[in-house]
Amino acid sequence: MDTVRIFDTSLRDGEQSPGFSMTPEEKLRLAAQLEELGVDVIEAGFPIASDGDLAAVRAVSRQTRRAQVAALARAAQADVDAALRALEPALHPRVHVFLATSDLHLEYKLRISRGEALERICRMVRYAREHAPEVEFSAEDASRSDPEYLAEVMVAAADAGATILNLPDTVGYTTPEEYAAMFHHVRERLGARDVALSAHCHNDLGLAVANSLAAVAAGARQVECTINGIGERAGNASLEEFVVALAVRGERFGVRSNIQLDKIYSSSRLLSEITGVSVPPNKAVVGANAFAHEAGIHQDGILKNPLTYEIISPETLGIPARKLVIGKHSGRNALRARLEELGCGLSGETLQAAYREVMELADRSKNVSDRDLVGIAIRARRAATATAPHSSSSGSEPATAGSAA
Ligand code: KIV
Ligand code: ZN
Repeated sequence: MDTVRIFDTSLRDGEQSPGFSMTPEEKLRLAAQLEELGVDVIEAGFPIASDGDLAAVRAVSRQTRRAQVAALARAAQADVDAALRALEPALHPRVHVFLATSDLHLEYKLRISRGEALERICRMVRYAREHAPEVEFSAEDASRSDPEYLAEVMVAAADAGATILNLPDTVGYTTPEEYAAMFHHVRERLGARDVALSAHCHNDLGLAVANSLAAVAAGARQVECTINGIGERAGNASLEEFVVALAVRGERFGVRSNIQLDKIYSSSRLLSEITGVSVPPNKAVVGANAFAHEAGIHQDGILKNPLTYEIISPETLGIPARKLVIGKHSGRNALRARLEELGCGLSGETLQAAYREVMELADRSKNVSDRDLVGIAIRARRAATATAPHSSSSGSEPATAGSAA
């Protein structure tokens, strides 16, 4: 199987979005976790943006041993020089040069012609390559660029020394078919040149992961993404969703990643802890409900064989345990299993009585907590003991009932 390189930009595209800024120490903590997670490239920042960003990229470069460290630079010499300075201590440095290629950006934002942009790209990629072993070039707003001009730029960037060519969907505008067609077109125009194509998708239409997967199917061998999908506006492609899609549907894509799946959950939690922004409960893969089951039919299926309602086991992703959530849709089997987990297993009539009480409570309130369940189980057991022939007041209570409550 081919390997698709994972380029994590949580510390750059992610960090530059509102509410996600990190101190240098926090960046270092996350970078260490990213290395453990197995990302191939850590984009550590945009050194020209501030002295603080430059220092943070330097610190990440010093700390990181296995992964490449990338620093972003516009196609301008001051930017490339700042990136090179920041990357000095890196064992595996990569300068990431970018310039917009859509007419919209060229005319209104940069106020330069296509020819001027092409010349600037070639000059800056060549300059970066004279000073760094690896250079990536990104055509900002590639998905809204003229396909012929885009292909011409990519060929020129490759000839100037870039070995990774990134085609960003900067404003989350493209669709999977359209994005795949762009990769096929550029690849065809590159001929036999030994360069890797890269996808970088934003999530404005909720298509970032789908578009990244389409790019991989069309030959991309690097995907740029962020933990928890953080990033500009609606975010970037979420690393965990992309990587787990590859893991679950490997046969469909024929590629693998170097990501340690069992580090996915802890990485997501660390980012939330650092930024103070928690993930929505229904977020794919890492949301609190991603492996929680409340509906009775689902709970019954899960208890018989988890594959009935889970496409990958939570343990594989480092998620402590699946949750059987007891609510008004739950069945008796699920209640029995949950009470056993809580150390107060019931059966027969006692279970039936507890189940009735749980359903009444679930109808009245939104959540049935473990504390509620333990209380109900204790009462049901006491009632059963009291009505049983030769009942004794020292009826056995679950050893864990007190602590679970
Ligand atoms: O979205 C984008 O185009 C970018 C580039 C700088 C790679 O983040
Ligand atoms: Zn971006």
